[in-house]
Amino acid sequence: MTSRLLHLDASARRSSFSRNLSARFADVWKAARPEGEYRYRDLAADPVPHITEAWTEICDAVLGAGITDTESYSSVVTTPAQHVAWAVVEPLLTELVWADTVLIGTPMYNFSVPASLKSWLDQVTFPRMSLRGTRFVVAGARGGTYLPGSPRASFDHEGNYLRDFLAGHFDVDDVVFVHVELTNALVDPRLADRLGAHEAALAAARQRIEEVAK
Ligand SMILES: Cc1cc2nc3c(=O)[nH]c(=O)nc-3n(C[C@H](O)[C@H](O)[C@H](O)COP(=O)(O)O)c2cc1C
Repeated sequence: MTSRLLHLDASARRSSFSRNLSARFADVWKAARPEGEYRYRDLAADPVPHITEAWTEICDAVLGAGITDTESYSSVVTTPAQHVAWAVVEPLLTELVWADTVLIGTPMYNFSVPASLKSWLDQVTFPRMSLRGTRFVVAGARGGTYLPGSPRASFDHEGNYLRDFLAGHFDVDDVVFVHVELTNALVDPRLADRLGAHEAALAAARQRIEEVAK
């Protein structure tokens, strides 16, 4: 079967470590799979709106009807406001279910994921969904370091959140995280002594993302 990659980016800036890392993954993935199909969505440049009250009504109806098959969600969409909400969800959900690999390029913002990514997650997530069999790759960047054993390891609510979210809501544990750490060493004079560690983390992340993409 043809491989299908959905590539998301969430950084607010163009010159971005997570964008560069996810783009490298996509390039290597495409070169290794000339027949592969590819979809791209820039969640920062083309933001997904926040969910609305009508969205919550659809979600409750899906839960109440015990629907687990995403293709049947539309059967509970009835009111005009729900149709408006569904028009936002439907293309997002269709391309998510279509993909066999989902690549998420994301920064850490305030120890968590950017609002642009959270908005997308809120729109596409319904009760008791299963995307088991889909592979997720997170190409991340953060200003500090959150490696196991580092003082702020427990503050990594970006990586830990995504791991828990994907397992808990999408039933997916095939997740690879590749992070560029200590990017703030390039801009914060107080982190100048961490520049070498950042450069090592960047080189390791680039090598790892290529291995994962192949
Ligand atoms: C709004 C905002 C919040 C941030 N919060 C954190 C944070 O909590 N921890 C951290 O290590 N870096 C933080 N950073 C730094 C970014 O994670 C860092 O610049 C990263 O490289 C951004 O990803 P990008 O290069 O893909 O844009 C923050 C940056 C911004 C703009």
